[in-house]
Amino acid sequence: MPDMMDTLVWFNGRTVPLREAQINILTHALHYGTGVFEGIRGYWSQDAEELFLVRCEEHYQRWKTNCRMLGIEPEKPAEELAELTAELIRLNGFRTDVYARPLAYMSSPRIGVRPDGKFDFAVIAVPFGVYIDSSKGLHAGIVSWRRLEDHALPARGKICGAYVNSVLATTEAHRHGYDEAILLNESGHVAEGATCNLFMVRHGRLITPPPSDNILEGITRTSIFELARRELHMEVIERSIDRSELYCCDEVFLTGTAVEVAPVTRIDHIPVGSGRIGAVTAHLRELYSQAVHGRIVDYHTWLHPCYQPMHVHSR
Ligand SMILES: Cc1ncc(COP(=O)(O)O)c(C=O)c1O
Repeated sequence: MPDMMDTLVWFNGRTVPLREAQINILTHALHYGTGVFEGIRGYWSQDAEELFLVRCEEHYQRWKTNCRMLGIEPEKPAEELAELTAELIRLNGFRTDVYARPLAYMSSPRIGVRPDGKFDFAVIAVPFGVYIDSSKGLHAGIVSWRRLEDHALPARGKICGAYVNSVLATTEAHRHGYDEAILLNESGHVAEGATCNLFMVRHGRLITPPPSDNILEGITRTSIFELARRELHMEVIERSIDRSELYCCDEVFLTGTAVEVAPVTRIDHIPVGSGRIGAVTAHLRELYSQAVHGRIVDYHTWLHPCYQPMHVHSR
């Protein structure tokens, strides 16, 4: 069993073993949550003998935009950052599913919230399997914590400090015996899960809350838009969702880099639709899995191969 601490990571401009990637106890980001991160999955395909990073450049694009909200200006373009991540995977020789975690953070060891413009950047990639087993459907619960409001802390920002909201929601959900939390926003509409976006199927349409309902603008969410429209010919609508609609819709599922496409079969102990995994959810889940493993040529544009360049078909 390899020691995880031997994993090579990118840390402040160098590749070092994880055990050497240390920060000072007074680091600004540790005290004030002033970091911006990403989560990127890579899937190993045995058939192709390739590891595909999923929508890697989009993740870095989002990360760069989000960094700007905190006044952090990363220099490297998204393409270079995607290649840096692929290089880390090659250096570690990973031939398994992985999760990559880029993190920019205010790095000065000092007391006081006022930023001094100094930040550092790390990328850690580790082997990573199933985040939450949703194969039989999840039981989700609406928690009492509300999703962050944009005028207090940008929900779209993937800012470290904002994840205390997700931690509180997850803790409450688990304490009540649920697998996953659903958060409402201040206006009482459904926002999202603790670390994932939410979709429902109602009257044959796929519906999901708009960004203005304080969601994180998920990249998996946009992948699902594409799959639903192109492959299922379904109408996808972004609109606010009432809490009670979750109790009378046909299907609910969650999406995210970590959770992938996770069916929700009960909410607050009430069965969703039939109480079994619905047909639309099952279909999208399968399509997504095929696409990210490189098995559908039309979606090769989503993938960044780590070991060999891929011939990408233009659409
Ligand atoms: C709060 C939150 N919402 C939604 C998502 C889903 O986003 P993505 O599909 O880009 O992983 C995530 C995960 O990154 C998240 O942390």
